[in-house]
Amino acid sequence: MPATIIDGKDVADRMQVQIAAEAARFAAKYGYPPGLGVVLAGDDPASAQYVRMKSRACERVGITSVSHLMNASSTQAEVEDAIASLNADPKVHGILVQLPLPKGINEEAALRLVSLDKDVDGFHPINIGMLGMKGREPLFTPATPTGCMVLLKEAGAQIEGANAVVIGRSNIVGLPVALMLMKANATVTVCHSRTRDMKSIVQQADIVIAAIGKANYVKGDWLKPGAIVIDVGTNKVDDPTAKSGYTFVGDVEYASAVNVAGAITKVPGGVGPMTITMLLANTVKAAWRIAGE
Ligand code: GUN
Repeated sequence: MPATIIDGKDVADRMQVQIAAEAARFAAKYGYPPGLGVVLAGDDPASAQYVRMKSRACERVGITSVSHLMNASSTQAEVEDAIASLNADPKVHGILVQLPLPKGINEEAALRLVSLDKDVDGFHPINIGMLGMKGREPLFTPATPTGCMVLLKEAGAQIEGANAVVIGRSNIVGLPVALMLMKANATVTVCHSRTRDMKSIVQQADIVIAAIGKANYVKGDWLKPGAIVIDVGTNKVDDPTAKSGYTFVGDVEYASAVNVAGAITKVPGGVGPMTITMLLANTVKAAWRIAGE
């Protein structure tokens, strides 16, 4: 029996209705809507596209967005000034510093400057540290990993006690999602480019989070029958049958995986819509927190 499809678009749409209602309630009470400030430095087309999608999503749910668009030769001081001005703006409740920053910019120093109260991306070293520590809770958790956790719950995954394998150890997805799974009492293994015999490790997993950034990397015969598979990858590949000449595929080979997994996300339409939705949810949460509610 083919896997149940975990429809991230549907979950995201439903959550965005609630977020829009919360944003409207905030605006009615305070006279201005929740606000998101974005710092985009450099000319990476994928980052520019993410930021455009985030701004459009903000507009849809009634969150204002203020963008600082800076070129690839921006200095550390310019990036830090942009963050400082968003920190000081009372109508900005959340700050997103789009990663990666251009070469030569100290990412750690920039992220450390984001006001903790406005760290809706959850990348401030203090928030990441709290995420990793037992008995501590960060103020905000990063968007993509949080989206993965929501989709696991949506799929009815029993996380506590499960063997969860995370493929990829990036600061944006692999590391924080591994920490979140550990907090949820899963037994977590993190695989990466130096892992030996990854297939045999993935075959033990009740939950697989694929975030390695390689097209169709995980095959169906790597999966334990019934495993719940969350595919974070968005890899651009040539496709002569598409009008544009390309298409996007995940890190999991969907055609083989769908016959083995118990539940699986699609690309597109899985994790992608959740990432933006979690950022919107964190921005509204930040607005209420800053207002003291
Ligand atoms: N670059 C890729 N994904 C993300 C994200 O979720 N947040 C930020 N700030 N940068 C990213």
